[in-house]
Amino acid sequence: MTFAALKPTGTKREIYSDLALAARGLFRDERDVIANAANLSSLIFNGLDDLNWAGFYFLKNGILVLGPFQGNPACVRIEMGKGVCGTAAASRETLIVEDVETFPGHIACDVASRSEIVVPLMKDGKVLGVLDIDAPIRGRFDDEDRKGIETLAKLWLDASDL
Ligand code: SME
Repeated sequence: MTFAALKPTGTKREIYSDLALAARGLFRDERDVIANAANLSSLIFNGLDDLNWAGFYFLKNGILVLGPFQGNPACVRIEMGKGVCGTAAASRETLIVEDVETFPGHIACDVASRSEIVVPLMKDGKVLGVLDIDAPIRGRFDDEDRKGIETLAKLWLDASDL
């Protein structure tokens, strides 16, 4: 089976709707956590404009550890409460940073990153990790992105044996 590179066009809402449809297709016959995370990071990275990194960190023994991603090699371990990822994980809420240079404690894994969105991955009230997406331009992410990426994260959570 092959998958053409998907680059949906239209409004943000339409783009996220197309990506959600594609994610459902990718997850339909697969419940492996890592395989689905790898495919979702690729779908997001290749499907959205103006990104330089998209991927997962999984909470292991109280520390966020790098999972499947697309982009340059990244920091492997992030403590809870540290950086954008650790802050979002500790607060259990999606965090959008318009300009990472103004975020105290931002961890510059990729110097190209200018803005960032981090969605906590929650199941049964527990934080399992985060989905982190970086852009090389300021102000890349808004509330429409938050809704779209939270939906994609939920599809991954529901589709995978966690
Ligand atoms: N910037 C993140 C670290 C992860 S990388 O962006 C991939 C942070 O501050 O938590």
